[in-house]
Amino acid sequence: MSTTREIKRIVNSITTVEGEGFLVHRPFPTNAMTQFDPFLLLDEMGPKEYGPREAKGAPDHPHRGFETVTYMIEGSFQHKDSNENAGRLGPGDVQWMTAGSGVIHSEMPAKEFEETGGRLHGFQLWVNLPSRDKMAKPRYQDIPASKIPVAHIGNEGIVRVIAGEALGKKAVIDTRTPIIYLHFMLKPGDKIEQHVPREYNVFAYIVEGEGEFGEANDAQTRARRGQMVIFESNGDSVSIAAPKSLRSDLSVLLIGGIPLNEPVARYGPFVMNTQMEIYQAIEDYRAGRFGTIQP
Ligand code: FE2
Repeated sequence: MSTTREIKRIVNSITTVEGEGFLVHRPFPTNAMTQFDPFLLLDEMGPKEYGPREAKGAPDHPHRGFETVTYMIEGSFQHKDSNENAGRLGPGDVQWMTAGSGVIHSEMPAKEFEETGGRLHGFQLWVNLPSRDKMAKPRYQDIPASKIPVAHIGNEGIVRVIAGEALGKKAVIDTRTPIIYLHFMLKPGDKIEQHVPREYNVFAYIVEGEGEFGEANDAQTRARRGQMVIFESNGDSVSIAAPKSLRSDLSVLLIGGIPLNEPVARYGPFVMNTQMEIYQAIEDYRAGRFGTIQP
């Protein structure tokens, strides 16, 4: 029999700026929660309306020792890196980048979007790599929205399966350690019970609206846009509902994975296990061993 997880706590995101100065909402890392093992960061870019030539990005910067997962909701970005990969990300597209031993990355608004402006909304998740994979060869999985499996829920709700499995649909993305990354869009009155293995750490991030998390007869908890709901590890499923009474859609990311339980040495875009490995990363970067982005 499946047991529904209770809610451990609800965290408010902070608002900050990244890259050249674009707005992000960040549930973690913060001083109060430096990581959510195996995840290192979640940034919600926007939602924000930009005028012509106002949109900002993150020009050339390095990464080593983890993965960056970009998921666009609105607007478009152009990614490039030192391995001559380049890809445009539009609404619903996902780029799962395994930085591994190191890349130089550039994430800028796509040219047409930059020219005309518009609404920008997206997410970046950092997934830590186990020590055996930190120096793995970099890899890119660029998945267009049309290739992301979608399952239907009740009253016109859907779930987009970015990683893992939901309602019999399996993701097309490979992950180095088991991960679920699901985007639920529920209509008022919809309720889902999603299987999550007991050994996973799991949280929900509310993108739009307000939802009810946990079982009604336990400590069911309401959370709203911009909040992160952390589930207890006392069950093998989570319950999410869009209350009928609120009459608004609920958009939620459900993200989970097996904790690595390894030491984390972190310095900006380098995430390793020891301080020595961080010094090595800085030295390799300074010596140009991460390569350069070709114009
Ligand atoms: Fe990056």
